[in-house]
Amino acid sequence: MPHSMSVGEGSSCQKSKLSWVVGMRPQIWVPMVVVLSLSSAMFAQNEPVSAGLALTPPMGFNTWNKFECSVSDELLRGMADAMVKSGMKDAGYQYIVIDDCWQVSRDAKGNIVADPQRFPFGIKPLVDYVHSLGLKFGIYSDAGSKTCQGRPGGFGHEFQDGLQYAAWGVDYLKYDWCNAENQDARATYALIRKALDASGRPIVLSVCEGGKAKPWLWGKEVGGNLWRTTNDIGDKWNDKVKWPDGSCCALNVMDILDAQVGLESYAGPGHWNDPDMLEVGNGGMTATEYRSHFSLWATLAAPLMAGNDLRNMTLETRDILTNKEVIAVDQDPLGREGRRVWKNGDLEIWVKQLQGGSCAAVLLNRGASERNITLKWEQIGYAKHLPARVRDLWAHKGLGSFTGEFSATVTPHAVVMVTVRP
Ligand code: GLA
Repeated sequence: MPHSMSVGEGSSCQKSKLSWVVGMRPQIWVPMVVVLSLSSAMFAQNEPVSAGLALTPPMGFNTWNKFECSVSDELLRGMADAMVKSGMKDAGYQYIVIDDCWQVSRDAKGNIVADPQRFPFGIKPLVDYVHSLGLKFGIYSDAGSKTCQGRPGGFGHEFQDGLQYAAWGVDYLKYDWCNAENQDARATYALIRKALDASGRPIVLSVCEGGKAKPWLWGKEVGGNLWRTTNDIGDKWNDKVKWPDGSCCALNVMDILDAQVGLESYAGPGHWNDPDMLEVGNGGMTATEYRSHFSLWATLAAPLMAGNDLRNMTLETRDILTNKEVIAVDQDPLGREGRRVWKNGDLEIWVKQLQGGSCAAVLLNRGASERNITLKWEQIGYAKHLPARVRDLWAHKGLGSFTGEFSATVTPHAVVMVTVRP
């Protein structure tokens, strides 16, 4: 009878293979097991420790927009407390990021030194405190030998700093591009990513190059998790914003918005276009304009880094920053960046595809008088006859079912932001 293998035979065959190993003398199989485990560990190392970070756009707070160089241990602890108490942590904010000016020098061994007056306990206890609240900690450095504020930069100390940040428990590094004009941006950011990974700690890398070297073309490849697409934001809707030294000019919200057109295909889970940090609550715009700024950034799948004083927010500011329906659009797991699908003078429609076939739409009126804006289903890729439920994400209410199009009246500098679910 031709031999046909039964289940019993198969399992007994496996057993006999096992007994072949177990039956060996330990002097032979113990080293074999060690070699096998080492080689599988080596294969595992092919995946960098930073793989899988920032699968949705990072959310947090950064000191720069409001406090510039006035940073301290007390300020950062206060912001971390406020992030929890205000409900921002519950809404998804996570990173407490200290920007420029925390560092003053390097010691004899080249280690970076924090300002001893402003950080009397050093950085580690501050990071531990932030972690104890269930939040994460971010720090700032620069690719050149000096930061934008003339503090010691990272040039030539990349691996040393990477180890230091990891030892402090840092989770996020914003790496700036002042005094680095003679360096190659792509190679420089690849180097700092390598240094961070070599520390063994998963650290989000925020590429702050300002957009000149088009980081959207190479940021993902070098392990950047987000990259600034433009120069700095200023706290204005569409006016010129002078730099702190009086020279001209930082960008306003409308300038930055225009600069995002065409970049949408470069963003995705783990690697995001960064149109710069939020100005919501800093006083240079109206509440309507801040609502628009926040809605547009969410539609762009932008990192949502609050830049205001979280300890002293008006309820209006807090309600903008913690609008969970708008945040859900930003954090949608599909990770698509929204794009401008229609423009007619001051009127625009921006659309972001969401997981499950629905989408978010922002009807934006940049002008000075109230206008009506109509979103047509073909602008979002839906058939004309398709009925879809429309929900207003600022009014927090369903507006009903619409077929073919949805129209809304939009006041000056405002948005109507909706989800459309077929
Ligand atoms: C640059 C960056 C800002 C901020 C400052 C700090 O201008 O773009 O976001 O980090 O440096 O000096």
